[in-house]
Amino acid sequence: MKLFGGSKAWLSTCLVLLVAVIAPVQAVWPAPSNITTGQSTLWIKHGVFVTYNGGIVCWSSLSPAPSCMFSSPSTNKKPMVLQLPWTYGFSPPGPKFSSRDIVTGGVSRAMDAILNKNFVPWKLYARNKVQETEAAYNKPKTYITRLEITQTAKDSDSTWKPVAGEVDESYSLSLDTKGTAKIQAVSAVGVLRALESFTQLFFKHSQGSIYTSVAPVAITDAPTYPHRGILMDVARNWYPIENIFRTLDAMSWNKMNRLHLHVTDSQAWPLEIPSMPELAQNGAYAKGLTYSPSDIRSIQTYAIHRGIEVIVEIDTPGHIGIVAESYPDLITAWGAEPWTTYCAEPPCGQFRLNEPKVDKFLDKLMDDLLPRLASYTAYFHTGGDEVNFQEYLLDPTVGTNDSAVIGPLIQKFTDKNHARVRKAGLIPFVWEEIPASYNVSIGEDVVVQSWLGGTAIQDLTAKGHKVIDSNYNYWYLDCGRGAWLTFENGDAFDGNYPFNDWCGPTKSWGLVYSYDPRANLTEEQAKLVLGGEVAAWSEEIDETNLDNILWPRASAAGEVLWSGRTVDGQNRSQIEAGPRLNEFRERMVARGVRAAPITMVFCTQGMDGSTCELPM
Ligand SMILES: *[C@@H]1O[C@H](CO)[C@@H](O)[C@H](O)[C@H]1NC(C)=O
Ligand SMILES: *[C@@H]1O[C@H](CO)[C@@H](O)[C@H](O)[C@H]1NC(C)=O
Ligand SMILES: *[C@@H]1O[C@H](CO)[C@@H](O)[C@H](O)[C@H]1NC(C)=O
Ligand SMILES: *[C@@H]1O[C@H](CO)[C@@H](O)[C@H](O)[C@H]1NC(C)=O
Ligand SMILES: *[C@@H]1O[C@H](CO)[C@@H](O)[C@H](O)[C@H]1NC(C)=O
Repeated sequence: MKLFGGSKAWLSTCLVLLVAVIAPVQAVWPAPSNITTGQSTLWIKHGVFVTYNGGIVCWSSLSPAPSCMFSSPSTNKKPMVLQLPWTYGFSPPGPKFSSRDIVTGGVSRAMDAILNKNFVPWKLYARNKVQETEAAYNKPKTYITRLEITQTAKDSDSTWKPVAGEVDESYSLSLDTKGTAKIQAVSAVGVLRALESFTQLFFKHSQGSIYTSVAPVAITDAPTYPHRGILMDVARNWYPIENIFRTLDAMSWNKMNRLHLHVTDSQAWPLEIPSMPELAQNGAYAKGLTYSPSDIRSIQTYAIHRGIEVIVEIDTPGHIGIVAESYPDLITAWGAEPWTTYCAEPPCGQFRLNEPKVDKFLDKLMDDLLPRLASYTAYFHTGGDEVNFQEYLLDPTVGTNDSAVIGPLIQKFTDKNHARVRKAGLIPFVWEEIPASYNVSIGEDVVVQSWLGGTAIQDLTAKGHKVIDSNYNYWYLDCGRGAWLTFENGDAFDGNYPFNDWCGPTKSWGLVYSYDPRANLTEEQAKLVLGGEVAAWSEEIDETNLDNILWPRASAAGEVLWSGRTVDGQNRSQIEAGPRLNEFRERMVARGVRAAPITMVFCTQGMDGSTCELPM
């Protein structure tokens, strides 16, 4: 009896020790370049004294902010009065941004996440072992009292609307065991990235307080790719603007920095153009389902406060049929049937390719839109995918589907459109078909977005194009949900059973994570890959399911783009990444984004990725 009791006690001590040792060590997502952590516990509460280059940061974790949340040890400086809710950052609307305001907003959001939107990680600890695993509650507590932020260079106007690579997003973050945290970064954007890593050090205690048990911490970190994006299609289904804000928030937690807004398509034109109000009046799905100039400006400034650049796309000369509702003379094959003969999705409709009125229209449209966008971005996306040559059989200005005729017309069209973009001081983006399928030559400034997979990235970079990668086989998050079409009983039903979509299966997080945009490239070619975007084409997505289509699968791409597909020359492992992604998903949910689980709690409670590893 004695022996049995003794060995049981021994066994349980051992288990507790074991649990303490294999409790999550560090789980920062995306993985930092360098991180070391310790095993000391620190607590955190309201009243952390935050400085930015020596000055007080008047942060608040509440919205709207009632007052500054700090206790200054010895200062007679008056706290600033906060003008705007922190969720929108602190700058008044306008093309001028203040680094201090950006940092203050970042600190406030980080503190809000740490103090108000945290969670008890019972899903990440062994079953019924939270109390044993989390920090001891009744011991004397050491609190984090100071966060000292140092920015080593001044931001410039281009910090807020950078060309790829123009902003230094690197940072270092340290937390000592006495309760002082330090952040150093070159830019305010780097400070924002550091703050997101900082938030991920903390959990809520089951007794209610907030702690970290991995002090001391030292992180140095920098992104692998300068373009880390998400494509939102707000044309095929309309999204209330809060969905775009929420997506920007989640992107910033993931250290992603480009939101590509595919804002018009053949199905709908929700973009208000003041000089041509009929476009949205006739083109939106319903009155009110539009984005006004001030909506677009809010999206852009909200993004900038989170270190994100918004790139707007008006896809041309295809994917534009809806313009015919206002300007029928500009469009060929509008609503042509059977649509399968003329386009990939109904309703068909492309710009006529030899019609001077199209030039006048685009001059007017771009003169209205681009100067407004250009205050907040370096880029404009001119589209160019899936131009269907059959539609030009119906185009009175073309009358043929011969590529020898159409190619040069697309060349002229592209040249003129890119000239408009450059005139506004912006750099054009195109989809890859423009150079790769239509034999159009483009300027050296143009960035090519690739989606067709195969050897596309190799081919484009071999020709010297700068590219971003959205390979549909890996990074189309809408795939695998089944067809959005309906099929009549009989041949259509039988021939299309079981009603898959064109790009299934669903891209699992593991598949998203396996993709390396720089695979099989020479060093010279690799430099031309600026990054990538995951895409959420919206035939079957709207505000009810957006979050769990994007998250956490976009996070998997986010880590590839921030941290790189490989580490020390080896592919990153799902076994290592899984537990971190489980934890990060819980953080996103706690912060208000309905990210999907990537596995069941049985697996997350195993605490390391091997619990549910497929045995070999
Ligand atoms: C990470 O550490 C290595 C080795 O000390 C260093 O060469 C590298 O620059 C560090 N990376 C960052 C982003 O600081
Ligand atoms: C051009 O159109 C004709 C008539 O519809 C069709 O037979 C032919 O396949 C088309 N050619 C191309 C290259 O699409
Ligand atoms: C592509 O265009 C170039 C001129 O820009 C021409 O020399 C070449 O023959 C064209 N290639 C094809 C396949 O049409
Ligand atoms: C690394 O991942 C790539 C896919 O990105 C795969 O082709 C390759 O086989 C993997 N290498 C190893 C050693 O697993
Ligand atoms: C790289 O090459 C390997 C072997 O040819 C191939 O399996 C893989 O799909 C390629 N990856 C990319 C991204 O092209």
